[in-house]
Amino acid sequence: MKIAVVREQAEGERRVAATPDAVKKYIAFGASVSVQNNSGSGISLADADYTAAGANISDDVSDADIILCVRPPSSKIISNIKSGAILIGMLDPYSGRDSLEAYNQQKISAFSLELLPRISRAQSMDVLSSQSNLAGYRAVIDAVATLGKAVPMMMTAAGTVAPAKVLVLGAGVAGLQAIATAKRLGAVVSAFDVRPVAKEQVESLGAKFIEVAAQESAETSGGYAKEMSEDYKRKQSELIAETITKQDIVISTALIPGRPAPVLITPEMVANMKQGSVIVDLAAASGGNCPLTELDKTVIKNGVMLIGYSNMPSRVAIDASQLYARNIYNFVSTLLLEKDRLNVKWDDELVKGTLLTHEGVTVNPIFAK
Ligand code: NAI
Repeated sequence: MKIAVVREQAEGERRVAATPDAVKKYIAFGASVSVQNNSGSGISLADADYTAAGANISDDVSDADIILCVRPPSSKIISNIKSGAILIGMLDPYSGRDSLEAYNQQKISAFSLELLPRISRAQSMDVLSSQSNLAGYRAVIDAVATLGKAVPMMMTAAGTVAPAKVLVLGAGVAGLQAIATAKRLGAVVSAFDVRPVAKEQVESLGAKFIEVAAQESAETSGGYAKEMSEDYKRKQSELIAETITKQDIVISTALIPGRPAPVLITPEMVANMKQGSVIVDLAAASGGNCPLTELDKTVIKNGVMLIGYSNMPSRVAIDASQLYARNIYNFVSTLLLEKDRLNVKWDDELVKGTLLTHEGVTVNPIFAK
């Protein structure tokens, strides 16, 4: 059984789908592993680190049974993948049909790990959680690094430094880590989420939960947020408008899977914020929680800095790669391999949930229509 690791092509992508540790584990499973040259350069690893772990360095993926990637591979790589091979990564299936057609043309079994059902058994394979957690951490670090103000309260002979105020919009995985990081730095943190269950999690981290009084259910059966009514949005907007004027940092993480990110910070709210405050819009790649956010740019609007990195996990690429590589290894070793051979558990709900294309057909229920 041959496993190939591809060099990431997307601009600014520093992560890699397998670390030397992961390579050793695949080899211990009886696989041979090839890694495209320079795959680890984004996390300061040389090809020699991979060969020391037992991998070959080769750009050729044409004989691989399993191909591992972080982001969707280039069309050139896809065209070299053999029929029946398995491709695993964060394949961004919502972004368009072209890639699905390319996988079908090559008869690739493509698994997109963003679609993994969030059940307990899947936690060790959950790439969204491992990457969002680091994104939430790094968002606070980036905001603090640009803020011209200290975060903790300091009592000095020259006077007291007031603690920074941080507002986190969306208290999912990224938001909760942003809250925890900001609290550790000494900020006064408040947070908001449409899912009422988030209240307890926010409060357990020592932050204040900002609540919209509403009757409607905000959560799908899968635990995700859904689009809210106009009445809810208006009440929410009034609350955010009132709170945001006092903040030094706003970290916004609100996402609705498969839909554009909800607009939570309007240009009027930005105009009413304190001069010198910072917004990190972690929803930038899905359209942003603020319409003034510019993708992959840092811009200043009305004296407020807006940071719109589309790929925050890549800014913590060493840890992001390590966790991602473990997520993929857990997926492959649990669901696709048995001893030293491929034995895909096609009927497992984790396989069914993530499999996009198989034998030339788009099989995933979300994308088959
Ligand atoms: P996400 O990345 O899809 O969204 C981020 C946050 O934005 C969510 O908390 C969502 O409720 C919130 N949001 C959406 N629209 C909003 C709006 N209009 N205003 C304010 N907030 C809004 O979510 P993530 O981080 O992937 O987590 C989704 C759920 O999955 C959470 O309940 C989380 O606890 C759960 N989860 C469960 C796991 C498991 O294995 N059981 C693993 C990881 C997450």
